[in-house]
Amino acid sequence: MGAAVVEARTRAAWATVDLAAVRHNVSELIDLVAPAAMCASVKADAYGHGAVPVARAILEAGAQWLAVSQVDEGVELREAGITAPMLLLSEPPLAAVDEAVARHLTLAVYTDAMVDALETAAVLHGRDAVPVHLKVDTGMHRAGAPPADAPALARRMDGSRHLVLEGLMTHFAVADDLDREADTKAQLERFEMVRDALAADGIVPAVLHTANSAGAIAHEAARYDLVRCGISVYGYSPGMAMADRVDLRPAMSLTAEVAYVRDVEAGEGVSYGLRYTCPTRTRIAVVPLGYADGVPRRLSAVGGEVLVGGRRCPIAGTVTMDMLMVDCGPDSSVAVGDEVVLLGRQGDEAITADEWAARLDTISYEIVCGIGPRVPRRYVG
Ligand SMILES: Cc1ncc(COP(=O)(O)O)c(C=O)c1O
Repeated sequence: MGAAVVEARTRAAWATVDLAAVRHNVSELIDLVAPAAMCASVKADAYGHGAVPVARAILEAGAQWLAVSQVDEGVELREAGITAPMLLLSEPPLAAVDEAVARHLTLAVYTDAMVDALETAAVLHGRDAVPVHLKVDTGMHRAGAPPADAPALARRMDGSRHLVLEGLMTHFAVADDLDREADTKAQLERFEMVRDALAADGIVPAVLHTANSAGAIAHEAARYDLVRCGISVYGYSPGMAMADRVDLRPAMSLTAEVAYVRDVEAGEGVSYGLRYTCPTRTRIAVVPLGYADGVPRRLSAVGGEVLVGGRRCPIAGTVTMDMLMVDCGPDSSVAVGDEVVLLGRQGDEAITADEWAARLDTISYEIVCGIGPRVPRRYVG
């Protein structure tokens, strides 16, 4: 998060990250998947929550592994003194392999070029047992070796003087969709075929893993030795149909203080494009958060609301880069400095990233990852 991690009072807007909620979610997930171990994904700055403090909370709650997607993300955690096993979920550029090995990141590997680069880096760093996980593409067609190529790659890794083939992994495409269980089953079958082909060659990786949050929660057969949970750690279910299977608490809320209040006459327009017309004379509050902070510009057009004084109020007009306006109603007593909740709870009301996601036809992941580095994070719990 760089400078934004520092508690800043130069901005009357902040994201609160509840580390007690993170620990709760991790420990619920650990209970659910035991005896499989827990690898928590803290890529993308812990899905926008702040990698270092969240990683510490995750490890305190009993997770054994962390996962990142960029070498720099691993470096940030290592420089913060975090020594837990750390999985790099996909191959980095070859130029970054040296750094990855120097930082003891465990790579997901699926090309001969990466095996070559790792052997060179291992020699350079005087390492003779660099652990690697062979990643197989069993159907998502993103990253991973085709199943037919996996045995040859595995033989190379297994025969290397410098590498240890520690893991065999794959990633699901539709584990969150319970109507498409057949596709997830087909991926598991391909994964097991590769596992068996390796075993026939006498190669038995110690750590088998396939499951993201959806796999871990909804597909018992997918848990194997380790699960790789991301979104569930942050308190969101990967799919509504599995939301009741584990008690998850959203860890992030988003709050700002009203910067300015004005009364606007009936029929007047608000914000760029004057797309919102005040239905009556009403009180408009100006809130210092905008699309540069991760509040999508379109949110007002799809019925987006915020909480003011414990009540839902509509976002009035287009969200601008740094500010948005809220129609607090003609009788509102809202004043400069009052807290407005965009995500989270106020009184009896709550607004979640799932609510935004449903309005915007996206997923909670994109909402929480989108809360930008300009928004200071405050850590509680
Ligand atoms: C390879 C891999 N494993 C695990 C995860 C975690 O997924 P989720 O956030 O759905 O739990 C991801 C995230 O996209 C991933 O790419």
